[in-house]
Amino acid sequence: MTILPTPLTIEWRDGAVPLPRVLRVCGGGNAARVLTQRLGICSGIRVEYAEASEAEVVFDIDATLGAEAYRLDVDRRIHISAGDERGAGWAVQTLLQLLPPEVHGPGPMELESLRVPRVLIADGPRFSWRGSMLDVARHFMPVEGVLRHLDAMAMHKLNVLHLHLTDDQGWRLPVAAYPLLTEVGGWRPGTVLGHQPPPDDNDCDDVAEHDGRPHGGSYTVEDIHTIVAHADLLGITVVPEIDMPGHMEAAIAAYPWLGACDHVQHPRTCFGVSEHVLALSERTVDFCTTVLDQAMELFPGSPIHVGGDECPSREWLTDESSRATMEAIGAVDGPSAQAWFERRICQHVLDAGRRVIAWDEVLDGGVPEGTTVMVWRETDAIARAATLGHDVIAAPAEHTYFDYAQLSTPEHPLAIGGPRTLEEVSGLHTVFDALDPTLAERVLGGQFQLWSEYLRTPERVEFFAWPRGSSVAQQLWTGNAEGVGSVTDLTDHLQRLTAAGINWCRHDQ
Ligand code: ACM
Repeated sequence: MTILPTPLTIEWRDGAVPLPRVLRVCGGGNAARVLTQRLGICSGIRVEYAEASEAEVVFDIDATLGAEAYRLDVDRRIHISAGDERGAGWAVQTLLQLLPPEVHGPGPMELESLRVPRVLIADGPRFSWRGSMLDVARHFMPVEGVLRHLDAMAMHKLNVLHLHLTDDQGWRLPVAAYPLLTEVGGWRPGTVLGHQPPPDDNDCDDVAEHDGRPHGGSYTVEDIHTIVAHADLLGITVVPEIDMPGHMEAAIAAYPWLGACDHVQHPRTCFGVSEHVLALSERTVDFCTTVLDQAMELFPGSPIHVGGDECPSREWLTDESSRATMEAIGAVDGPSAQAWFERRICQHVLDAGRRVIAWDEVLDGGVPEGTTVMVWRETDAIARAATLGHDVIAAPAEHTYFDYAQLSTPEHPLAIGGPRTLEEVSGLHTVFDALDPTLAERVLGGQFQLWSEYLRTPERVEFFAWPRGSSVAQQLWTGNAEGVGSVTDLTDHLQRLTAAGINWCRHDQ
């Protein structure tokens, strides 16, 4: 039996503990709730809460174990000590993996099959940021799909869901002060067919062929609460990204005064980098800080991602208000102009006491101290950002961009490019291994990215996510890629994904 991610230490003992029809549990908070729900669904086991002396499963907190760490001691009974509440949740995920794979499914299971092998496991993560980025802007993902993704993440002890909520093609975040962001910016008239490059003049909406089927949607405040509450139950932080000052065409369609050009009619129907960016002005900075305040209210305590990637500056040189701002601040080019914007935006989030994150382009012009840099382009930027004193999150395209195909087979669904195989993904840890130890200390961890240009449904997202995501989870938890280098290595674990109904990419398809 393999457990994934692999625990730090495992001592197998003889025998197994059978789970009774009514399981008495002491303590455990959310972790006990997750255990109760899963056992109830797959087997009808009912949990009753009991005193420690009476219970078959006992949870306690031992802060000396450290953040997210746990000790799972299965002997006469099951004893879980955890460094914190998250650690208890990960212990439950390990406990479920000690049971047959069907425990992850809808059931029904025979009670007799639910026997936990006697074992002593001591475990804890190598990195504190173990994430998955879901682009719900290019294709909207209904709440149910997001909840399913959270469940799959928890099975892998992944603890950050980065939600890319806004982009040129759609705006998904409700903002009370600007209702048109979702009403107008949430819908586009169609989606480009296949791989058409954007036309030279950048106005793809008018000339590129699209499918003519309106696409869109947005989350309500209640939807966001549902997502955040489910994530919280599982020990996952949801990090909203509001991408700015580029990737803003949907917002500009809703409020044309935000733009540095005058002809955005609707959210973008094709992909690629848009030239239609926010104008540089006090008014657009005010707009952005209002949106960020709303995001901070809807995602209590979470880090906030402010984008910053792929912002062409061509329109700033022709737009009157942007040119005036550039003159006033002495900006001579795109990066120096963007640096002014980033200073204002990042400082706003930092002043609210939150972690602020931006893509690595912001290093070109500079960004306030305390900003966390998410590196996606050249992996050298990890060392560069760390040398400048920034915390860093690794999202290198060559290992973690899952919008690329998993396989090179002709039957593989349309992808942005590829393939990016399980083997290539399993090289992520080499990026960390290559760092000087003092710089490595600034690396919080990493994440894989599910950009959704070609991921139209939750099932398609799953196909692109797994099992490559299993490899990333292993590397971020353990620091190495042992046991995840090939699909054969993952045989045991994939039975769990199958039982959970996850549409993972079968390599023999
Ligand atoms: C990115 O891929 N533009 C972050």
